[in-house]
Amino acid sequence: MLQIEKDKGAIYFNNDDGSALKKTLEKLVPSSIFILVDSHTNTHCLPQFLDKTGLKDNATVIQITPGEEYKNITTCLEVWNILSQKGADRSSLLINLGGGVVTDLGGFVASTFMRGIAFINVPTSLLAMVDASVGGKNGVDLGTLKNQIGIINNPEIVLVNTSFLNSLPDNEINSGFAEMLKHGLISSKKYWKDLQDFSLKNKEITNRLVWQSILIKNEIVTKDPFEKKERKALNYGHTLGHAIESYCLSNPSKEKLLHGEAIAIGMILATYISSEILKFDKTELSQITQIFLKRYPKVNFTNNDIEAIIQLLKHDKKNRNGQVRFVLLRDYGESQNDSIVDNALIFSAFEFYKNFTLN
Ligand code: GLY
Repeated sequence: MLQIEKDKGAIYFNNDDGSALKKTLEKLVPSSIFILVDSHTNTHCLPQFLDKTGLKDNATVIQITPGEEYKNITTCLEVWNILSQKGADRSSLLINLGGGVVTDLGGFVASTFMRGIAFINVPTSLLAMVDASVGGKNGVDLGTLKNQIGIINNPEIVLVNTSFLNSLPDNEINSGFAEMLKHGLISSKKYWKDLQDFSLKNKEITNRLVWQSILIKNEIVTKDPFEKKERKALNYGHTLGHAIESYCLSNPSKEKLLHGEAIAIGMILATYISSEILKFDKTELSQITQIFLKRYPKVNFTNNDIEAIIQLLKHDKKNRNGQVRFVLLRDYGESQNDSIVDNALIFSAFEFYKNFTLN
């Protein structure tokens, strides 16, 4: 079994004999156990989880509605109320079984209920395995503004089991894969290249690359848990990506984008901006753009859309003194945080994206 040991937030990979959960339950001795699911994970993942863990008769299941639009304080209120009505106390445990919405929201609910109860993340989507579950970021959206309310607090443990990936549609896999591609860009050209072999059809390759992404993310968040420096690199593509995601969520004339689909666009734009400001290689920019556009839907942005997206940047969590700060790349694995980018260059980046033609 692969694992990363830590006092809090240890990560266990394909721990098929269930020993990691057993050990954690023996340590915590929870007064009661709750399992947070959405309707998808209730159907596709909970039966397998209950079978393997023997928690069937020992846990209360709480179900929320799936989807980013329910990642809000109203849903938290529902979960807090259920915990309260069912007699949860400070020694209760919440197990978050789901994708990024369940783990982000569940972590926030647990971190605030009675000033904090223990929680465990069992990510079931690729996005949650390689990103949301690792590093202790928990929270909810404020309206359509992403992750504006939250807290950094690690789960007791994270149990990653890649067999859950088989229950996911292709667009969800691609959404998570965007974060892995980000890990390639911010870590090394070698890993970026290795990622081009990713295929769920090959279990050995899937496991190797998912684990490698977890290691990359873990190394960064261990160095800088509160995002003062190195962790900012994990926001590569997220400044514009989050604004695009929020804009498409709130605008009925736009197709809603999955997180990774929006971040993929954000990474193309950030790489173009990097090529202009930090001289990121233009040939690499073109190859990277090919790879993203082959996998992710191309969105048609009008000038009005771009103006509105730029307006949304003022809510980005990395801003300081009202100035938007971008993470840019000089090369693979060489990021520069806190770059200031003028709006004309953002428009040029969108022009590059719009005019790019696939080979
Ligand atoms: N998802 C970016 C981070 O955890 O820092």
